[in-house]
Amino acid sequence: MLEQLNRIEQTALSMLDQVRDEAGLQQWRVKHLGRSSSLSQVLSKLGQLPKEERPMVGRRANQIRQALESALVEKSEALQQVAIQRSLEAERLDVSMPGRPAHSSRLHPATQTLRKIYQILAEMGFQIYWSREVETDAYNFELLNMPAHHPARDMWDTFHTTTPGVLLRTHTSPGQIHAMREFAPEPIRVILPGMCYRYEQLTARSEIQFNQVEGLAIGKNITFSDLKGTLADFARRMFGQNVRSRFRASHFPFTEPSAEVDIECFVCGGSGCSVCKQTGWLEILGCGMVHPTVLRNGGYDPEKHTGFAFGVGPERITQLRHRIEDIRYFWGNDMRFLEQF
Ligand code: PHE
Repeated sequence: MLEQLNRIEQTALSMLDQVRDEAGLQQWRVKHLGRSSSLSQVLSKLGQLPKEERPMVGRRANQIRQALESALVEKSEALQQVAIQRSLEAERLDVSMPGRPAHSSRLHPATQTLRKIYQILAEMGFQIYWSREVETDAYNFELLNMPAHHPARDMWDTFHTTTPGVLLRTHTSPGQIHAMREFAPEPIRVILPGMCYRYEQLTARSEIQFNQVEGLAIGKNITFSDLKGTLADFARRMFGQNVRSRFRASHFPFTEPSAEVDIECFVCGGSGCSVCKQTGWLEILGCGMVHPTVLRNGGYDPEKHTGFAFGVGPERITQLRHRIEDIRYFWGNDMRFLEQF
């Protein structure tokens, strides 16, 4: 009997040696420690043995059961170690391999300048007012004091839609009328940014589409000094505290008086170079006091209210800041250009 038990133990242990995975381990457990295992059979037949053999055989059988159980635990742990080792091998990362370059995007240079303009004017109390890009002839011209025959219209030829009188705005100034009609007779301090369109031959200096930022302030006792102070401060914040600016008399049908603002050429410091075409000055915007007719068209009484307006070209300012010689780069979608900003 004892010999049979020894054989059972040896067979079980040597078969355990062959086990290679968790499933095999379960099979082994059922076969060698389960209810129908040889060991269990020996134990169940214990009663049939002669009385004096029973204790010895019983003790030995229990010893073997314990030995097999702890061998099972040991084997199970060993198998787990092997599995971990194998997955570490299989999933090994080579952290020294060069990475794939991540393509980072960035803001378009015109957008960067637009945001800078927003920030400066927001600090002065101007809110953004979004106005439409598709306009009517009335808003783009008539209400801005440019009747159908007005020669100033030649400066602003545009794209017309198939609906008569509906066109792409040539400047952000029609937004002035929209803002005034919404807020009159309350005071206004807004900027109107966005795309404008002109029917032009493409040259280094002109594009058929470009951004503008219109500024509009309406209230009581607003004077030309307010306009001058606001724009001189804007120029300093945009181009640097030491950059001088000047106002030059000009003409726009919707402002009176009208002016254009130049800043001192920061390439040559005012002595004259190719960027400023030997004048020492660079033009950055058009402006003026809102024309009484325009105020009236917007719903204000020009006897009681006054206001100023200005229109800046962000691409023009970007050109100056980065010395970009051709305005056509802005909407040409050339990565070699865009990646530089
Ligand atoms: N709308 C003018 C332009 O496009 C600029 C401007 C705006 C001038 C507001 C005066 C006042 O040239």
